[in-house]
Amino acid sequence: MGVILGIESTAHTFSFGGVYSNGKTISSTSALFRPEEGGIHPREAADHHSLLSGNLFKEFITKNDIPVSEIDAIAFSQGPGLGPCLRVGASVARSLSEKISKPLIGVNHCVAHIEIGRLQTGCDDPVLLYVSGGNTQVIARNGGRYRVIGETLDIGIGNMLDKFARTQGIPFPGGPKIEKLALEWLNNNPNASLDEIILPYGVQGMDLSFSGILTAAVQKVADGHSLQEVCWSLQEHSFSTCIEVAERALAHTGKNELLLGGGVACNERIREMSELMCIDRGAKAFWPEKQYCIDNGTMIAELGRKMIKHNLYTKLEDSAIDPSMRTDHAEVVWD
Ligand code: ATP
Ligand code: FE2
Repeated sequence: MGVILGIESTAHTFSFGGVYSNGKTISSTSALFRPEEGGIHPREAADHHSLLSGNLFKEFITKNDIPVSEIDAIAFSQGPGLGPCLRVGASVARSLSEKISKPLIGVNHCVAHIEIGRLQTGCDDPVLLYVSGGNTQVIARNGGRYRVIGETLDIGIGNMLDKFARTQGIPFPGGPKIEKLALEWLNNNPNASLDEIILPYGVQGMDLSFSGILTAAVQKVADGHSLQEVCWSLQEHSFSTCIEVAERALAHTGKNELLLGGGVACNERIREMSELMCIDRGAKAFWPEKQYCIDNGTMIAELGRKMIKHNLYTKLEDSAIDPSMRTDHAEVVWD
């Protein structure tokens, strides 16, 4: 059976993954760029990706026992993302396509987060709460597009968590460590009250905002609150804003499935909040395995698989990257 290869390279992660033509997933082989200090410099991340791409590809096909002759098509993230990083993925995809004479499929990274979630969880027509480092969006399918019905007006929620972590000397990615510290606080203080540590609540209509809460959280630590307590409050406030907007999206669209996607969807607390909100309104919450919440090549392959069923290949001359590609850019013709 043929394999669709997927290449992910929008930001810090370079990854190869795959899906068999019947929809059976092949776990990704990935490398994460971790800056020694500060945030991610696009050029440095791109250098990391191009340095590792050859060995990573070999590792992926060897580990999964995939003869190159079985690869039917090569899907890659065409956007959105950091230009230099996207360019590495696109170049690798073009060279492979040329070498093995198999077609290219340029895919929308955000839509890939949705499609891997649908494949993995079996949900059909969800509202997607897409919470990652660079993006925070509430998305629903309508009229042949995935429409963004609410989103952050400044930074992504994961970016906010990572930046807060960095101010406390916690290296990238900060989200998992914040989750751990928040849980420690709750375990030691089962009756903890948010009244003791109120942070800004950034909901504006259907949109969200995270820059204010970041500044306020840093200040709370400077004021003498423990880091664990601030991490707990930071999660409670910022996740609640996402859940509120997601709930309103369910109400407005009349849909009854909520799907989580993006790296922050690895967090057990946002999963729990989603479940509680859905139970309350007779809806159902879904999330894919953690390996498919974070950026991965398998999700790119899955969207490619859906697109080629409708002959949506990408010609070489149309394979340029688009760093600011929007979620509603792609016409959704697949089921
Ligand atoms: P996108 O290009 O879609 O914006 P991304 O480049 O930010 O994605 P992802 O792998 O989807 O990459 O998400 C990474 C983010 O997820 C980081 O900000 C990281 O801190 C966060 N994250 C990962 N695990 C957790 C967790 N358990 N709790 C909270 N945040 C998490
Ligand atoms: Fe992503």
